[in-house]
Amino acid sequence: MIDPNPLKLRPDVAIVPLTTKHAPNMYRWMSDPLIRSNIGLRSEPSLERTIAWITNALHDPSACPRAILLGDRHVGNVVLDRIDNYIATARLSVYIGESIARASGIGRTGICLALVEGFQQMGLHKVWLTVHSRNFHAMNTYARLGFALEGILRDEFWFEGQRIAAFYMGLLRDDFRQISPDLHGEHVVR
Ligand SMILES: CC(C)(COP(=O)(O)OP(=O)(O)OC[C@H]1O[C@@H](n2cnc3c(N)ncnc32)[C@H](O)[C@@H]1OP(=O)(O)O)[C@@H](O)C(=O)NCCC(=O)NCCS
Repeated sequence: MIDPNPLKLRPDVAIVPLTTKHAPNMYRWMSDPLIRSNIGLRSEPSLERTIAWITNALHDPSACPRAILLGDRHVGNVVLDRIDNYIATARLSVYIGESIARASGIGRTGICLALVEGFQQMGLHKVWLTVHSRNFHAMNTYARLGFALEGILRDEFWFEGQRIAAFYMGLLRDDFRQISPDLHGEHVVR
């Protein structure tokens, strides 16, 4: 029998447009060393900087920032940015800020919803990302969603005081369709 939910997506996870009301949570998460080091945050976070980042992203036509909700609770963010309308590509970044919400399928579902929005509603052809070479948990999540390793960026990530490699991973619309055919056509942003 065909598994109707092979990616084990969670029905209690949704994505909504990120707004400045999400800034206090985001600022709190940016102060978590695990989040900071894994996303490669370069400057000291503050609430003002966080609000400014969200405001800029909301005015940037090449960005599509989303809050990930578990029920009604904001637990993380997933962002498509660097949207290139000419070749129909975008970069994806993601984090589950609430530590108790990690490793239970919430990140995978949030990313998947952003991918459906990107491929189906925005007409993207490819989504790409970079991840540092020690972030095995994130790589596992990306690989499960069909992302393939396309390149190794030697010494391009600063992690805990050391230069390490970053991996460039990419997902084509057709690859994603193979993995999640039933998701196409749904309206995903609540
Ligand atoms: C990376 C991240 C977004 C993944 O989201 P998540 O909700 O935690 O992950 P999921 O539960 O969707 O998927 C986790 C998978 O990894 C496995 N896993 C769980 N804990 C793990 C761990 N500590 N190490 C390795 N794998 C782990 C799970 O078993 C699951 O495997 P499965 O595909 O067989 O079910 C999230 O952990 C996170 O925000 N991490 C910190 C910030 C970060 O690294 N962001 C990415 C920057 S590139």
